[in-house]
Amino acid sequence: PDAITVQELANRMAEKGADLVKSLFKMGMAVTVNQTIDQDTAELLVTEFGHNIKRVSESDIDIQTEADVDAPETLEARPPVVTIMGHVDHGKTSLLDAIRGANVQSGEAGGITQHIGAYQVALKDKSKITFLDTPGHEAFTEMRARGADVTDVVVLVVAADDGLKPQTVEAINHTKAAGVPMIVAINKIDKDGARPQRVREELLQHEIVVEELGGDVQDVEVSALKKTNLDGLLDAIALQAEILELKANPNRAAEGAVVEAKLDKGRGPLATVLVQRGTLKVGDVIVVGAVSGKVRAMIDDHGRQVKEAGPSVPVEVLGLGGVPSAGDTLTVVENEARAREVAAYRQGVMDRKRTTSAPVSLENMFASKA
Ligand code: GTP
Ligand code: MG
Repeated sequence: PDAITVQELANRMAEKGADLVKSLFKMGMAVTVNQTIDQDTAELLVTEFGHNIKRVSESDIDIQTEADVDAPETLEARPPVVTIMGHVDHGKTSLLDAIRGANVQSGEAGGITQHIGAYQVALKDKSKITFLDTPGHEAFTEMRARGADVTDVVVLVVAADDGLKPQTVEAINHTKAAGVPMIVAINKIDKDGARPQRVREELLQHEIVVEELGGDVQDVEVSALKKTNLDGLLDAIALQAEILELKANPNRAAEGAVVEAKLDKGRGPLATVLVQRGTLKVGDVIVVGAVSGKVRAMIDDHGRQVKEAGPSVPVEVLGLGGVPSAGDTLTVVENEARAREVAAYRQGVMDRKRTTSAPVSLENMFASKA
């Protein structure tokens, strides 16, 4: 069909009609749920909402429908994906480094681990947590604008000697807009001027009531420098993850999101991908954003080659025909002809999108699919 009502499209995507109307409004179209939109606009919306195109034939497309949602019995527990946010210099990177250093198993100490934008740490009970290195502000906005809804939990880092600052408030707003649960890490408690209680009180002004003050947002005092109470923070994350009951079907064709990508002189295009469902395997034919390719090799966050990567696992993927963008979706397809077809289709959508480009809004940055 070359026209579809907004409600019909919403139903097929298992989204709220009102959300589609809102999105259309941002693109400069005032329509109601009962009005029809053309195929081009429909396709744009489908991409906007992070759904996948299932089949491309001549000119028609099929979007991912509810039938493509994994059946409950196929779901298995997966590690939480945690993004660290906070004001400049409050210790985000130090905290990540400290956590990682404290958890990288000694046997893996084979020199400096190559940096990728995402990594996993294993807890004492063998469960895992996936951390996303906070990308620069612009990259982050870009990723969320593309509907890369990868974050399950946000850890808000606030320096105890500095308190809430503009970017802290920004991070709070992003997190709230996304409906993602937050854990507050009050950092730098080793410093003379540390006033953790003031941080808790300042948070009240933003309707964040931490546990210490009788609320339900977990707050943890840490020192990245002295490696104080890192376990406390990891426990808080594990507890939050337990509440969320995060699950994914590992036994299906993989889908994921690009965390970062670059062109390597020797190895060609490299994309750090976070697998969101299914298992990505060496040899899989993939489409990433508007780029197609075949997984030639995968490298984990310890620089080791791996043959497969399941839900919440970040890997560096080699074998792409070009460099995708952060936030792009990875999809496994049947064969290379099909990969090229989908890539070309997406390129067309992207070109159209560029000319109609909607402004980036905070609300859609984390765009939760739930
Ligand atoms: P940006 O990436 O620039 O936003 O900063 P960041 O939040 O990643 O902060 P970073 O980890 O780079 O730390 C900033 C400064 O604070 C560095 O000089 C750290 O050594 C220092 N720092 C971080 N954590 C602690 C801590 O727990 N205690 C003390 N005393 N200093 C810390
Ligand atoms: Mg940093």
